[in-house]
Amino acid sequence: MTQFIDSYARKFYYLRLSITDVCNFRCTYCLPDGYKPQGATNKSFLSLDEIRRVTRAFADAGTEKVRLTGGEPSLRRDFVDIIAAVRENRGIRQLAVTTNGYRMARDVARWRDAGLTSINVSVDSLDARQFHAITGQDKFHQVMRGIDAALEAGFSKVKVNSVLMRDVNHHSLQTFLDWIRHRPIQLRFIELMETGEGSDLFRRHHISGEVIRDQLIMQGWQRQIRARSDGPAQVFSHPDYQGEIGLIMPYERDFCASCNRLRVSATGNLHLCLFGDGGVPLRDLLVSDAQQPELQARIAESLGHKKQTHFLHQGNTGITQNLSFIGG
Ligand code: GTP
Ligand code: 5AD
Ligand code: SF4
Repeated sequence: MTQFIDSYARKFYYLRLSITDVCNFRCTYCLPDGYKPQGATNKSFLSLDEIRRVTRAFADAGTEKVRLTGGEPSLRRDFVDIIAAVRENRGIRQLAVTTNGYRMARDVARWRDAGLTSINVSVDSLDARQFHAITGQDKFHQVMRGIDAALEAGFSKVKVNSVLMRDVNHHSLQTFLDWIRHRPIQLRFIELMETGEGSDLFRRHHISGEVIRDQLIMQGWQRQIRARSDGPAQVFSHPDYQGEIGLIMPYERDFCASCNRLRVSATGNLHLCLFGDGGVPLRDLLVSDAQQPELQARIAESLGHKKQTHFLHQGNTGITQNLSFIGG
């Protein structure tokens, strides 16, 4: 199978695969009222075999990196089996997870043993009380122990995601910098994105990542070069710091030019973009191994419909589905 490529010659090395919508946190910008099943109460998420088939189809078409997302992916009881199943594909050199960190202190060594290669964990504040207020869970210290456990387990660069929010954490750069001075952590500030239920929050708290970028440049931080399967962060480093800073700024003009990723939801829909896309069902082609050519053909054909950009920089704020239902 040839490489997945779209009409703008973008190649897709990176699959974000959601394995569950369920989450046990209630982050203000994502699930402020907690997880509630959508539609059918017993909605079933992709099975281990379906995950095996979908990742094989992507691996055969050039995907090098798979990120397991959700919801909270580690809430799945077969999470370790899923890691092992994805790693059966030899082409998948990086297998990452994005997690709220709840299970990390307990399970991270098992994830490593099954074949996980990298971890991104959300920490929006280094203040335990503020962390509780944002996530609805009093788990700051547990998540911090999880980060230490990941570093001890040999994960070389743990990435930490902080959603940048005006008057919540946009003044906290120095606190975060002090934290990464002697820790091999890539701390990423993500610009708040507007979701269906989050318009009010967005109006009150959205602030551009430029406020952070300007301060970093003034303090001598330097932008790093991006590898082909990297995520969307602009990464900065500084000789005095062991850690790095990443900025994820989806509202920037050029954000989409380097798009290298596709998404598959927990119910098996292919999403070409985080914004404004209904999804292409793939599940009917995940029933047997014999359907692989048809599955790959459907994905390749769908890519012809991928738009050049989300056009958000042209004044369209763009509303994405709640990120826990599309895997971020
Ligand atoms: P690395 O592969 O480690 O660089 O991670 P990543 O940044 O791709 O993954 P992560 O799950 O940590 O995502 C961080 C943030 O970036 C989340 O809020 C994602 O929604 C956002 N993000 C990732 N890819 C895209 C994208 O294509 N479009 C938009 N708008 N946001 C994205
Ligand atoms: N805007 C920006 N980032 C968000 N995330 C979840 N919802 C939003 C939003 N509305 C982040 C989480 C997690 C990552 C996968 O997405 O904090 O780190
Ligand atoms: Fe790609 Fe859409 Fe993200 Fe732009 S917004 S980078 S087109 S997935």
